[in-house]
Amino acid sequence: MAFHLDRTYGLKADYWYYPETNMSNAAKKLFMQSIPDIETQEFLDRSNNIANNYFWQTVRNLGVMLLGTVYSKTDINGMTGFGNMYLFSEQQFAKFLGIDQTSWSPINKKVLDLGAGNGDITEHMRPFFQDVYATELSLKMQKRLKSKGYTLLDAVNWSDTDIKVDLITAFNLLDRHYSPQKLLNDLWKVAHRSKCNVIVSLVLPVSHYVEFNPNGKSTRPDNYLNVQGRSFADHVHHMILNVFKPANFRVVRWTRLPYLCEGDMSHSAYYLPDGVFLLEPIDPSTAPVEIVEEDQSPKTKTPESGHSEL
Ligand SMILES: C[S@@+](CC[C@H](N)C(=O)[O-])C[C@H]1O[C@@H](n2cnc3c(N)ncnc32)[C@H](O)[C@@H]1O
Repeated sequence: MAFHLDRTYGLKADYWYYPETNMSNAAKKLFMQSIPDIETQEFLDRSNNIANNYFWQTVRNLGVMLLGTVYSKTDINGMTGFGNMYLFSEQQFAKFLGIDQTSWSPINKKVLDLGAGNGDITEHMRPFFQDVYATELSLKMQKRLKSKGYTLLDAVNWSDTDIKVDLITAFNLLDRHYSPQKLLNDLWKVAHRSKCNVIVSLVLPVSHYVEFNPNGKSTRPDNYLNVQGRSFADHVHHMILNVFKPANFRVVRWTRLPYLCEGDMSHSAYYLPDGVFLLEPIDPSTAPVEIVEEDQSPKTKTPESGHSEL
């Protein structure tokens, strides 16, 4: 495995880009290996500098303690600018989508980023799109997104608008959403109408936690993702076959990336293993015939794509 991260500041980076355990045939066939790059290193270096700044960390701890009595963690990060996140560089994003950066033009291209947080991850997509739309349920995060020039859509009813885009993304939202099934249905509806692909990423193995629930105060979702097993690789397999397939999405490819969070007094940075999936909406009435392999993992014949790879 190509590996060039020099400084991980005490984090073990052996499996940042590759699952620790064996992948199923279904998962292996669709896997695209990502590689670390200079922007990932720069995020780690910046994070380490912030973590080592005693004055800044004291201000941060006091702020979080005081604000924590009134606001959610996401709101506090939105207000203070703490807890910046990193998932991919522009180059990694382009490679994952099969974009040739030398000939690509952002003119008239639109992306919709759902659950965009403070827009850290969204920013890395900005060079590829003229217009950036976003949704957020945290009011404080909404302010930050507006200040970055993004157009905000209603976080609950965005799929009922007539918006059409070139790509929809939902980074680390599915396991935080009050109804993952509604999100998958909405994603399919708008992606199918737009004839565009979708990127969904989430930390695996799945662990649901709902901070913003329009239906009440529960931190549990209305419905759960149908995943089994304990490992990252187990959950990739079940996401492909038990979650995306029944939601009428074909997984074009998937990759594993480190989802990094800025450090604090205890750690230079925090790392979570993210599965990132590129999905194509499939019309169930024209769905291809299934072939079941020996390992019982269904395999689909690739249908003719109705739209460009993006
Ligand atoms: C784990 S953070 C991910 C933020 C960003 N996409 C990233 O990858 O770093 C989840 C975000 O989704 C927002 N969120 C939760 N439920 C939402 C919903 N139903 N619609 C829109 N945003 C939601 C939260 O406020 C939070 O900012």
